[in-house]
Parts: sequence; C-alpha cells; structure tokens
Amino acid sequence: VTAAGPATELRVRVPDEAGSYRVLVEPGALARLGELAVEAAPAHRYAVIADATVAELYADPAAESFREQGHEPGVYTFPPGEPSKSREEWARLTDALLADGVGRDGAVVALGGGVTGDLAGYVAATYMRGIPVVQVPTTLLAMLDSSVGGKTGVDTRHGKNLVGAFHHPALVVVDPEVLATLPRRERAAGLAEGVKAAALADGDLLGWIHDSAGALLDAEPGPVTRLVERGVAIKADVVAEDPGEAGRRAVLNFGHTVGHALERLAGYRLLHGHAVAAGMRVEAALGEVLGVTREGTLERLAGTLSVCGLGTVHESGPEPGALMEAMATDKKAREGKVRFVLLERSGRAARGPGGTYTRSLPRDGARDVLREAIGRAVAAARASS
Ligand SMILES: NC(=O)c1ccc[n+]([C@@H]2O[C@H](COP(=O)([O-])OP(=O)(O)OC[C@H]3O[C@@H](n4cnc5c(N)ncnc54)[C@H](O)[C@@H]3O)[C@@H](O)[C@H]2O)c1
Ligand SMILES: [Zn+2]
Repeated sequence: VTAAGPATELRVRVPDEAGSYRVLVEPGALARLGELAVEAAPAHRYAVIADATVAELYADPAAESFREQGHEPGVYTFPPGEPSKSREEWARLTDALLADGVGRDGAVVALGGGVTGDLAGYVAATYMRGIPVVQVPTTLLAMLDSSVGGKTGVDTRHGKNLVGAFHHPALVVVDPEVLATLPRRERAAGLAEGVKAAALADGDLLGWIHDSAGALLDAEPGPVTRLVERGVAIKADVVAEDPGEAGRRAVLNFGHTVGHALERLAGYRLLHGHAVAAGMRVEAALGEVLGVTREGTLERLAGTLSVCGLGTVHESGPEPGALMEAMATDKKAREGKVRFVLLERSGRAARGPGGTYTRSLPRDGARDVLREAIGRAVAAARASS
C-alpha cells in the first residue's frame, strides 16, 4: 500500500497482477461518484446495484452524480438482508442487466453493505465473463473489510460464501457521511473489524479506537475517515503479501474461528461483528491459557470492545463441547482440524508452528483448555462492562 497524495487516498496492489486500485476515503465523496467511476472504470452503461433500504437513501444522489457525467445509470434493487446473497438473487439481477442490454462494456456499481458488495461483485465477476465493479461500501463493516480484498460470492443452503469468485474492484469509494443513517448496533458491529485489524497489527490504533469509541459510534466523519484509512491499509498490506489463504492472510481470521461458530450456534441471529467480538475475547483468552499471548492482552482487548458497544454476548459463555462441534463444521477447518489465529500481544499476531499464523488446540485436554478460555473471556467481558 502506498499513500498517494492526500492522506485520504490509498492504493491497493492487486495480488498476482500488475495492477492496483484506489481506495478513496472522503466525506462527501458520494456526490463525486459518477466522476470517479467514469475515470477508474470507463463504461458505456453503469448498473447501480443496491438493497432497497440503501437505494431509498442513496440511489438518487448516486444516479445524479452519473447524470452530471452524461450517463443515465440503471438502478437495480433487491430485498435487504443476508438471504438475498443467493444464487436466485444473482440470477435475477443478471437477467435484469441482460434484459436492459447492458453489454461487455458495462460496469457495476455496488452501493451498500457487505451483502451488496458480495452479491453485486459476483454479478460483475460473472457477467459476460467479468465486467468492472466499483465498490461503494455504506456500512462500517463493508468500509473496513468486505469492499477490499476482491472476494465476492453468494451463500448456499450448505453454508455461507460457498460459491464465488475473486474479482477485484476497479475503485473503492468510501463516503463516511453515509454512516449517519446506519443503525448504531450495525456501526458497533462494523467497529469489531476495526478492533480486529488493530489487535493483530497496530497496538497504537487499538488505543486510539478505545479513546475515540464514542465519536466512532456517533459516526463522526473525521474519526471514521481515520479508522477506515488505517483499517484498509492493514487489510491491504496483509492481502498483498499473501493473495491466497495459506500464509499471513489467515491473520484476518482472528476472532473468526470462534465467532463463526457462535453465529452458527445462535442460528445467525447474532450480528457478525458482535459474534466476532466475543470470538476475539475467547481467542485472546485461549492464547493466554496456552502461554502464547502476553497476559493482560485479553483485558485490554475486552476494555476496548466494551466501550465500542461490543460487550457481553453470553451470560455464561457457550458450552465448550457445542462450541467445538460448531467450529469443526466450519469450511476453514483444514483436514478436520480447527485452527486459530492467536495474538502475541496487543497489536501483533503470533507466529504458529512452522512459520504459519494458525495453530490447533493441543490433542489432549482440548476441551478443558477451551473451557478455561471461555471462562476467562466471560470474566473479562463482565469486568469491563
Ligand atoms: N467479501 C469479503 O471479504 C467479506 C468480508 C466480510 C464480510 N463479508 C460479508 O458481508 C456481509 C455483511 O455485511 P454488512 O454487515 O454490511 O450487511 P448488509 O449489507 O446486510 O448491511 C446491513 C444492513 O444495513 C443497511 N444499510 C447499509 N448501509 C446503510 C446506510 N448507510 N444507512 C442505513 N442503512 C444501511 C442494509 O440495508 C442492511 O439492512 C456478510 O454477507 C458477509 O459474509 C464479506
Ligand atoms: Zn468478519
């Protein structure tokens, strides 16, 4: 990643390819979307894809910015929510673009949260074997995480994100001002990914998030801009270094082995970020129990999560056996082994055996280790609330 020009602009290298794309973080950028898109992804036709909630709020200003450039974009909407991240919705949107005669020289504008980014990104990845996509994330989660990295796809009844493709955006436009309309618990959920990035790569950022949590939850554009810049830079660094999933990219899964299992156990009624927050506490505790993570790391992490509105999820924590079972069914369990990313300390991920960044639980007494970690995590969440 190189900061090009003003501090609000980042350039993300595309792994395995010569190119790179811009991530522009700029309050008010939505008004310039047309201009920015026309420059980065010149196209004959633009298809703006948004869920109904986001379309109601932002499709007009987005479309207007294209009209100023002499383009009349098509606006395609779908029902909000994870169930829309489906092959059925992918087919419906693709057919709508085909019916409107969008050609190979078209481009998709994914305007919305992570669901839209993944779904519209997958439409773009597959449409006539691939047309450009401009990602315009409107949730904090999408700004910090899903709009950068190139993963697109849909869910199936067998699990989440099981069908998809890598399709890097031509441009990412982040306008922090759109977070003004995002519900507070969605903002908090997004903050979890910022805390994650800080916990594994930048201890100073973790401290700053702790001190700025109120302003971040209030969606003040200045602090949000700073957080997104740092968060995206960390993700981009990690992804550029390791385009696949074998090496360092795995660190981005900190908190997610347990987090995904908690989501599964809750029947996906828990927001992802809140599950990941609890997952980070358990995994930080696990590191301390195993002697990998410096003592005090969990306490500091729990304190930051708490001021971010990401405190206790469970009164008593999940039952270790059920958690083990839920983790084992995750698609990332390699060779049937559940793997964790552990911290060395606040701001640094620990290297595992053989130079990798993941490790599994000890063969003997895994359940007891997990039980102890859950206990510590719950106690830390309580103490910080
Ligand atoms: N591709 C990746 O690398 C990656 C990474 C992380 C997560 N994801 C995916 O992201 C998805 C979750 O994303 P999400 O949390 O953004 O969910 P989402 O896209 O469903 O958005 C959450 C809710 O907020 C509403 N919303 C969005 N922006 C708004 C705004 N500015 N004002 C008011 N309401 C707004 C939406 O309508 C929706 O109801 C999951 O499907 C997950 O798998 C992908
Ligand atoms: Zn996540």
